[in-house]
Amino acid sequence: MDLKNKLLLENKKNFNICVIGAGHVGLVVSAGLAKLGHKVVCVDNNRKKIVLLKRLSLTFFEPGLESLVREGVKRGRLYFSYNLAEGIKNSEVIFIAVGTPPKEDGSVDLTSIENVCRVIARNLNSYKVIIEKSTVPVHTGEKVKETISRYKKKKNVSFDVVSNPEFLREGSAVYDFFNPSRIVLGVESQRAERILRAIYKNLKTTLLVTDINTAELIKHACNSFLATKLSFINAISRICDLAGANVERVAEGMGLDPRIGRDFLKAGVGFGGFCLPKDIDAFIHLSEKLGYNFSLLKEVKKINQEQKSYFVEKIKECLWVLKDKRIAVFGLSFKPGTDDMRFSPSIDIIESLVKEKALLFLYDPQSIGEAKRVFSGLATKKIKFFKEPYSAVKGCDCLCLLTEWEEFNRLNFKKIKSLMRYSLIADGRNFLDKEKLEKLGFKYIGIGR
Ligand code: UGA
Repeated sequence: MDLKNKLLLENKKNFNICVIGAGHVGLVVSAGLAKLGHKVVCVDNNRKKIVLLKRLSLTFFEPGLESLVREGVKRGRLYFSYNLAEGIKNSEVIFIAVGTPPKEDGSVDLTSIENVCRVIARNLNSYKVIIEKSTVPVHTGEKVKETISRYKKKKNVSFDVVSNPEFLREGSAVYDFFNPSRIVLGVESQRAERILRAIYKNLKTTLLVTDINTAELIKHACNSFLATKLSFINAISRICDLAGANVERVAEGMGLDPRIGRDFLKAGVGFGGFCLPKDIDAFIHLSEKLGYNFSLLKEVKKINQEQKSYFVEKIKECLWVLKDKRIAVFGLSFKPGTDDMRFSPSIDIIESLVKEKALLFLYDPQSIGEAKRVFSGLATKKIKFFKEPYSAVKGCDCLCLLTEWEEFNRLNFKKIKSLMRYSLIADGRNFLDKEKLEKLGFKYIGIGR
């Protein structure tokens, strides 16, 4: 690259960007970058997905994303394509946001990342910044660099690799993109740093610049710490149940200490989703590989698993034999604001209840379609799906709440009580108004409450 071109690129305000992967991360990042003024092509090898996106139809639910995508496309700043080679050639900056699923042993399957690196190498026609956005184990940046260098066709073309981990939460990913708590940049060259600073210049937040390994490790550490906080409060909830204390108030008392903070101290049936569970597995595996036995994280994982069986035991304690008991389950996604059921606590809990031969009546505001797919392998005669809550509770012995969708607090519980056969409420998120429900005549069980 001659000096003139180099300066042109570094002084640009808006960039031609290729985002590889149109999943939860890739799509939010694509639409967000387009809103910031960049010209973005979002590429995915799933043709069906791209066809749908070209028609402005999203394959998953994320608040605010559809209108952001629509706006980007309308303004001519956001495109969708399955032509990865073209996307790479026409861009100065490439974000890799492909899937990094877990393997059986807990390690991360990096096949998609490696494939993408080889395609980038073949199509590297000018200097480009290649950014790891997917959550990857430490040292992936080194491998990305090595692979692209090894396979690149034009030997004189240079590139930079950057680690820019994402901290988006499903359900509020669009908000998080525009209001990040921080932007972490793991860089090796000042040129790449300047370009990344320019890309994000309209986002007002702290920019933390580190080396690549450190940036990758920050992501591991954050998700593992969040998981640890959750398992800690869930362990406290067990002690609260034993001691006759209230975990909500304990969390309040802890959270008032600014060194602890109130967030991520809601006890419940445990954490799920495609990030925390697989990320702690990956970190345990990676630490072991590096020579450190991260036993703390192993315990975090164990507590999370136990929390689900503990909840089922609590229901059993009340209803005694579960065979043929009618249980309505409200809230199936791993948290509110999403239809994502990956590693949702609802899966293990529903599987246990089916094993006990209970009859299940499922309702969720967004993920009934997804639930039908997830539970298609189970004894389907035992599970029925509902589009609205009141039909689901008819004749039930127990209403079990597993995700704290706001609409559940607005339900008419008087009506629910009149529809149920026995009025037990098992609140797996400590979300409902216990006193109000008890006044209405419900028997209420929560977690550590
Ligand atoms: C998580 C992190 O919070 C994000 O910062 C990160 O970017 C993301 O993973 C990722 O690696 O991509 P997410 O999986 O969307 O985000 O969900 P969280 O909001 O972290 O919730 C995880 C689980 O913890 C949910 O099942 C939720 O119900 C549970 N949770 C959360 C609790 O049980 N109690 C709480 O107080 C908070």
